[in-house]
Amino acid sequence: MRIGCVKEIKNNEFRVGLTPDNVKAYAAAGHEVLIECGAGLGSGFTDEEYAAAGAQLIPDPAEVWKQVEMMVKVKEPLPSEYPLFHEGLILYTYLHLAPDPEQTEALLAAKVTGVAYETLMERDRSLPLLVPMSQIAGRLSIQQAAKYLEKRFGGEGILLAGVPGTPKANIVILGGGTVGTNACKIAVGMGANVTIIDISLKRLEYLDDLFGSRIQTLYSTDANIEKAVRDADVVIGSVLIPGAATPKLFKKKYLKEMRPGAVFVDVAIDQGGCGESSRVTSHDDPIFIEEGIVHYCVGNMPGAVPRTSTIALTNATLRYGLQIAAYGLEEACRRNPVIYSAINTYDGKITYPGVAECYPDLESADIHELI
Ligand SMILES: NC(=O)c1ccc[n+]([C@@H]2O[C@H](COP(=O)([O-])OP(=O)(O)OC[C@H]3O[C@@H](n4cnc5c(N)ncnc54)[C@H](O)[C@@H]3O)[C@@H](O)[C@H]2O)c1
Repeated sequence: MRIGCVKEIKNNEFRVGLTPDNVKAYAAAGHEVLIECGAGLGSGFTDEEYAAAGAQLIPDPAEVWKQVEMMVKVKEPLPSEYPLFHEGLILYTYLHLAPDPEQTEALLAAKVTGVAYETLMERDRSLPLLVPMSQIAGRLSIQQAAKYLEKRFGGEGILLAGVPGTPKANIVILGGGTVGTNACKIAVGMGANVTIIDISLKRLEYLDDLFGSRIQTLYSTDANIEKAVRDADVVIGSVLIPGAATPKLFKKKYLKEMRPGAVFVDVAIDQGGCGESSRVTSHDDPIFIEEGIVHYCVGNMPGAVPRTSTIALTNATLRYGLQIAAYGLEEACRRNPVIYSAINTYDGKITYPGVAECYPDLESADIHELI
């Protein structure tokens, strides 16, 4: 198959869909890989590395779009890229079609096969192409909290780990899923006092087994949260109820009860946030202070570390990409039915139920009846 990768054009997006090592894997399997010149620079991969891995470097992105059968990207295409679609093209990337009617219509009109990272669900119901970004956001949340606790940012002016003879920081993590567990790992590693709060007793049991006496687990009730955050130096918001709005567990009234200069990192902000006082911020202007509490609410945290993010993402996307390239999409689905769950558009129809529900006027079909 002829596979391509272009430079991401979304503002501040430095990740790239294929690494030189990925190119090597596709080339070793007998595929041709076309890479736009400079596509990997934001993640620290040079054209020379891609060429050495076996890629053909193409200066004009339009030429890459035109020639390839499968385009591997990171973010959804933007309107300037819609005219570059062609019938039968497999677009393998994060698509997020539900809030994006313009893109959905463009994919259908051009009969592009949209294979979305975010809906690919493994047999154990995990979402393997979302997990790496949650791992990164979780680990990064503590790194950011440590930074914004510094006085010059409005923080309390304390060191997370303290030093002998000084108190360690108290970190409260709301939601102990992938983000929360990864935040916990770093926080525990740095020697902070960690309390993790979840609504799932099973999850708390798992965390208790994992971290033992180094953490405190608490069942999620308003009373427990209020008590825990009152003495917190850092609060991490990492709650998710799949398919529903994030509950606002971190109430505005708690801010007044906390120490001025404490830091709240609302990782869940991409789903609305779990703080009543949260509003989306960006890497250019990541924090604001309300009632003395430093709020960090960046919706695309992994963008701060594009090299790690690219490697982590492509570690997860490569194996499905290789299967699609080896057998063609249809046969790849039959051999590994997990791939069906990623197909959001096919032959001019919406094929993912969650997206179809958003667009009752657009044509939709059951992918299992089409392939
Ligand atoms: N800002 C970013 O850049 C970024 C990056 C990755 C993920 N995220 C977001 O982080 C959030 C968490 O993602 P995840 O992958 O860890 O999800 P997850 O499903 O693995 O974990 C969510 C956890 O929240 C718990 N929970 C649900 N309701 C609760 C409640 N009322 N009280 C306490 N806990 C509750 C669940 O039991 C689960 O353990 C999501 O909103 C995700 O979109 C943001």
